[in-house]
Amino acid sequence: MKPQLEQIKSWARTVGQMAIEMRKEDLDIEQKGLADLVTRADKAIEAYLLDQVATNFPKHTVLGEETGMHQKDGAHRWYIDPIDGTLNYAHGLPEYSISIAYAFEGELQLGVIYCPEMDELFSAEKGKGAWLNGKPIQVSKIDKLIDSLLITGFRHSLIDTPRSNMDYFIHMARHSQTIRRLGSAALDLAYVAAGRAEGFWEIALNPWDVAAGILLVREAGGKVEGLFGEANLLEGSVDILAANPVIFPQMRDLLIEIRDAKSSKFS
Ligand code: IPD
Ligand code: CA
Ligand code: CA
Repeated sequence: MKPQLEQIKSWARTVGQMAIEMRKEDLDIEQKGLADLVTRADKAIEAYLLDQVATNFPKHTVLGEETGMHQKDGAHRWYIDPIDGTLNYAHGLPEYSISIAYAFEGELQLGVIYCPEMDELFSAEKGKGAWLNGKPIQVSKIDKLIDSLLITGFRHSLIDTPRSNMDYFIHMARHSQTIRRLGSAALDLAYVAAGRAEGFWEIALNPWDVAAGILLVREAGGKVEGLFGEANLLEGSVDILAANPVIFPQMRDLLIEIRDAKSSKFS
């Protein structure tokens, strides 16, 4: 039996409710690293989703943020981020999401991103489209970077290194309408898919942050690639660029300019 979008949507709603309920009690926060937290809810949600996949699709491989790779049949692979935006979750902000994606032979097939606090459920199915709470969504039609709202994020550990996003941020800010830092890469991508933002880029994400969002943006008519054209967005550390198809090349050209200026500064 093939996984069905409706089934994943229903898991997402169930764990979304768990996230809301669990935030009312002690979060039992542990520090995994600098600016990298894990709460009781991250663990409980991942455990619930692992159990659903194991029960319904016992041969499928799962990559989950909190428990790593559960290697089985490599042709079927799930990507789970139980709470994307744990820092927001721990601080009481509403911008966090549950991100679940399913891929077959390396091709994303199904993706769901659910923001429980706003009751917004974004979903996509390969070749069939993308939806927000069941209504079709499309990327925006804005065609000039200077009129664009962009989103980005920052990995704390890169801030004082040559891979820092700060130079890109400053330069992109000069050439766009504004830049937001919302704190959930999955939602950032969902917002590009829904036409709320024209583009998103970030350095050093993980496959579970982006898998569902990549499918959403593509199915909503947008373009997603490695930041500078890197091929694989579903393995290792991920540098990503996603945008509506007209803004995409404008962002890419500028990012290349900044990268080249940075490398001459550091060489
Ligand atoms: C984080 C969020 C954030 C991004 C970080 C991610 P987490 O995921 O997506 O927006 O800037 O790089 O690690 O840790 O909350 O699942
Ligand atoms: Ca994440
Ligand atoms: Ca997470």
